[in-house]
Amino acid sequence: MESKIKKLLEDVESFNELTAEKVEDFRIKYLGRKGLLTTLFNDFKALPSDEKRKWGKPINELKAKATNKVASLKEKLNSSSDSEKSDQKDWTREGLGVKLGSRHPVNLVKNEIVNIFERIGFNVSEGPEVEDDWHNFTALNFPEEHPARDMQDTFFVERNPDWALRTHTSSVQVRMMESEKPPIRTISPGRVFRNEAISARSHCIFHQIEGLYIDENVSFADLKQTLLYFAQEFFGKDTKIRLRPSYFPFTEPSAEVDVYWGLKNEVDYRMTKGTGWLEVMGCGMVDPSVLDNCGIDSKKYSGYAFGMGVERIAMQRFQISDIRLLFENDQKFLEQFSSAL
Ligand code: DAH
Repeated sequence: MESKIKKLLEDVESFNELTAEKVEDFRIKYLGRKGLLTTLFNDFKALPSDEKRKWGKPINELKAKATNKVASLKEKLNSSSDSEKSDQKDWTREGLGVKLGSRHPVNLVKNEIVNIFERIGFNVSEGPEVEDDWHNFTALNFPEEHPARDMQDTFFVERNPDWALRTHTSSVQVRMMESEKPPIRTISPGRVFRNEAISARSHCIFHQIEGLYIDENVSFADLKQTLLYFAQEFFGKDTKIRLRPSYFPFTEPSAEVDVYWGLKNEVDYRMTKGTGWLEVMGCGMVDPSVLDNCGIDSKKYSGYAFGMGVERIAMQRFQISDIRLLFENDQKFLEQFSSAL
């Protein structure tokens, strides 16, 4: 008995094959129903009782060793087959794909408008969003205490009563006229701010594009022709425009520009309030006193200016019914414009 157990113990301890088949053979050989340990236990049963006392423990230890061996070899097999699996990469699998962002509809429209004016010699200029009273109001003929200032509800800056968030990009006109010599042909896109309640139609932050042309002998006819060119480039080559008299402190005469949109369906009725005409911008001849305020000789030079809201035009172009969608940055909304324009 002793030598048998010893021999088996040695065999169990030295066994170290690492294939699933060999381990299974080993298990059957030792621990199977007709395995070596079963035989050993049967031999053990036949022993006289004092012998039993002697061999019970070593036989049980042998069984435990064999069981542990099988368990540990199986574990090794499993973990090595896991790492084998991760080594076997599937090079034919489709890639995950990098999600591309898309341009914001406001930027799409802004870029298109800027391009249209760049083609006829306008350059692009910018000014600060926090602006002083002079550039936002006074130089543009909004005298202090003048009711025209109430046309635009202003966000003031607490630290300095002279500062405000600009209410329009017309402030950039002033900066350009102060720093450049005519001829000046510039458009100024940018963000503007008004202390207004947020609703489907208006927001306290939005974008404008300002246009300015100053030279000798600039006339209202130049303004009209430039606006017609713009409207036909942007809305289509047969587009008609009309100018309605209006009022802005910094232009004289002033006008509101409408584009003929049509009245083909219910949406057209809603968008044009039943007139077929869409209001797209304000414009006018720069008031001579504004030229003088900015250091440009109003006897020698004249000019025109115009200003339009980018969100409104983007909403018309893309049939967006709520301006707030343009500020929420909801990806599902923005993704729709990845192939626009
Ligand atoms: N600044 C005006 C506004 O925010 C828009 C505007 C009207 C700009 C007429 C102009 C202009 O340059 O000539 O409502």
